[in-house]
Amino acid sequence: MTLPYIVLSCAMSIDGYLDTEAPRRLAMSNAEDFDRVDQLRAESDAIMVGASTVRRDDPRLLVRSADRQLKRIADGRSASPVKVTVTATGDLPAASSFFTAGDIDKLVYCPRGEAPRIASLLGDHATVVALSDLVTMHDVAEDLAQRGVKRLMVEGGGRLHTQFLREGIADELQLVIAPFFVGESRAPRFVEAGAFPWTATRRARLADTRRIGDVVLLRYALSERCPSGTPFSHVDGRTAAGDRVSAHDDPTA
Ligand SMILES: NC(=O)c1ccc[n+]([C@@H]2O[C@H](COP(=O)([O-])OP(=O)(O)OC[C@H]3O[C@@H](n4cnc5c(N)ncnc54)[C@H](OP(=O)(O)O)[C@@H]3O)[C@@H](O)[C@H]2O)c1
Repeated sequence: MTLPYIVLSCAMSIDGYLDTEAPRRLAMSNAEDFDRVDQLRAESDAIMVGASTVRRDDPRLLVRSADRQLKRIADGRSASPVKVTVTATGDLPAASSFFTAGDIDKLVYCPRGEAPRIASLLGDHATVVALSDLVTMHDVAEDLAQRGVKRLMVEGGGRLHTQFLREGIADELQLVIAPFFVGESRAPRFVEAGAFPWTATRRARLADTRRIGDVVLLRYALSERCPSGTPFSHVDGRTAAGDRVSAHDDPTA
C-alpha cells in the first residue's frame, strides 16, 4: 500500500520551541503565513494533530478561506480535510473544536486495548480506529491510505512530529522560524530526543526557503517524492500552484 504524501508543518521559536510553558497559546507566525497554512490545508485530504494539541490549543483544523472551501467542493471533496488525532488516554473533550467545528469526518486512532473504552467515551463524535497495542505512525498512515487519503498534513505537536520523523515516513517538512526566543526548558520542543534518519553524515535536502514577513519558511525534502523548488509541488497527480506553502496552526483558527 502506497502511503499518503506526508507533510509535517510546524512553526518554532529561534531556540526550537513550539510554545511556552504557560497555558496561554502562543502565536508563532503572522497573517501571511497563516494564509499559507490555510492553502496547505486546502490541498490536503486529512489533517492530523496529537491529542495534547487538541487539549491545549483547541484548533478547529478547518480551511478558513471561503474560496478555497468552494474550490474543494467543486472538486467533489469536503469543504475541509478529514480531521485525525491519536490518543492512548482518550482524554479528548467532546466540546473541543476538533469534534464540534465543521461537518467533517473525524478519526481517532488508539491502541487496540483502549478502543472499547475510548469509543464509549467519544460516542458518535468520531470514528475510533483501533490499531495494534503500540500505535505507529506508519500504521496510521497506512490506514489513512486505505481510506483514500493521498495527502496528509501533520500539524504537530512535537511528539507527533518526532514519531513521523523517527519512523522515516514523512516526505516533506515545512518549518517556520519565528523571530523570538521562548527560553523555557519545560516548554514543548519541535522534536523530542531520539535517533532520526538525518544526521551530519546523512543530511536532509533543503528544497526551498522563503521569507514571509518576519518569519522564514524552510522546506526540507525528506523523501525522493518531494521535489525541489516550488513549495506547493505536484504530488499524486494533483497540481498545486506555485506561490503557496504551509506549516502549523493558527491558534485563532
Ligand atoms: N508551533 C506549532 O506549529 C505547533 C503546532 C502544534 C502544536 N503546538 C504545541 O505543541 C504542544 C503539544 O505538543 P506535544 O508534543 O506535547 O503533544 P502532541 O504531539 O500534540 O500530542 C501528544 C499526545 O498525542 C497522543 N499520542 C501521540 N502519539 C501516540 C501514539 N503513538 N499512541 C497513542 N497516543 C499517542 C498522546 O495522547 P494521550 O495523552 O491522550 O494518550 C500524547 O500525549 C502544545 O503546546 C501546542 O501548542 C505547536
